Amino acid sequence: MRILVTGGAGFIGSAFVRLAAGAGHEVTVLDKLTYAGDPARLGGAAHRLYRGSIANRELVEAVLEKERIAAVVNFAAESHVDRSILDAAPFVETNVRGTQVLLEAARAHGLQKFVHVSTDEVYGELGPTGAFTEESPLRPNSPYAASKAAADLLVLAYHRTYGLPACLVRPCNNYGPWQYPEKLIPVVIYKALAGQPIPVYGTGQNVREWLYVEDCCAGVLAALEKGRPGNIYNLGSGEERPNLEVVRAILNLLGRGEELVTFVKDRPGHDFRYRLDSSWAAAELGFAPRVRFEEGLSRTVEWYLAHREWLFAKVRQLEDLWRRVYQMGWS
Ligand SMILES: NC(=O)c1ccc[n+]([C@@H]2O[C@H](COP(=O)([O-])OP(=O)(O)OC[C@H]3O[C@@H](n4cnc5c(N)ncnc54)[C@H](O)[C@@H]3O)[C@@H](O)[C@H]2O)c1
Repeated sequence: MRILVTGGAGFIGSAFVRLAAGAGHEVTVLDKLTYAGDPARLGGAAHRLYRGSIANRELVEAVLEKERIAAVVNFAAESHVDRSILDAAPFVETNVRGTQVLLEAARAHGLQKFVHVSTDEVYGELGPTGAFTEESPLRPNSPYAASKAAADLLVLAYHRTYGLPACLVRPCNNYGPWQYPEKLIPVVIYKALAGQPIPVYGTGQNVREWLYVEDCCAGVLAALEKGRPGNIYNLGSGEERPNLEVVRAILNLLGRGEELVTFVKDRPGHDFRYRLDSSWAAAELGFAPRVRFEEGLSRTVEWYLAHREWLFAKVRQLEDLWRRVYQMGWS
């Protein structure tokens, strides 16, 4: 199939492009190439890369037309919670307005399929037990999560109102090679390698569910090929870990002690725990993550060790953000 992957130069989008191209799809990428986008991740897997925003209707229409696109997979987003706390405006522009523009263009072009990549964060936070199902209410807590929830509702409304053949996936925290070092795992790897203090929010007891990026992409590909319009699919792994345990596991893999760990003031509105019930995706899509957390983490650490230059170059761009976050006083 000829597919358009938006945000395909990002962390998960690029892994998806590599997977989909390997499975025989012809993949065109549309990406704004923000600080988070990097065409190096594609390694030649994309048929063509267009630089621009999903919020640019003219451009989106031109790409759909020129490339004779049959389906869209939308990964494009502002994706970092801390940045959304500093400034929510780009989150509304890309995640909400951009998604609406894409939906409208998909409708105008009579596309066969639209897969929208959402997040578990739209459900808000859980206490120590339980799991979110697709029927759980939306209770987003950060501006990032709120913008993703708004986009989800638009996707569902376009299906219901106009019959757009769209479905949604809601993955939990992804990790793996090529992740931009503002997210927990690559930040910790960098800080440990650089011998710098490792900031851990609060007491480090917040729990996340970790999904290896290739497993996530297999779920998204299954949604593209088999997902039913109007459906929502949670993509979780069952691999829950408190953040402090993740930090310790990385230090262990790198042969470092815990003296670098520094507890910092918690992020405002920091959700305590996420956990997805993915039985619907398992039943409908055959979704079955293969990579256990310890295995995936060890592969990830090895990848960063072999790509230190990429990691250190990205961190140089980030230092300004870290300064601003620290000045805001929550870390
Ligand atoms: N990383 C995770 O753990 C995780 C978990 C659940 C869901 N998600 C969702 O998955 C998707 C991909 O996440 P990621 O971690 O790869 O993010 P990322 O930040 O690495 O990549 C996002 C990509 O989107 C591009 N982009 C940003 N604004 C754009 C715009 N207006 N038009 C076109 N492209 C634009 C960026 O240049 C970048 O290449 C996002 O929608 C995110 O909300 C991520």
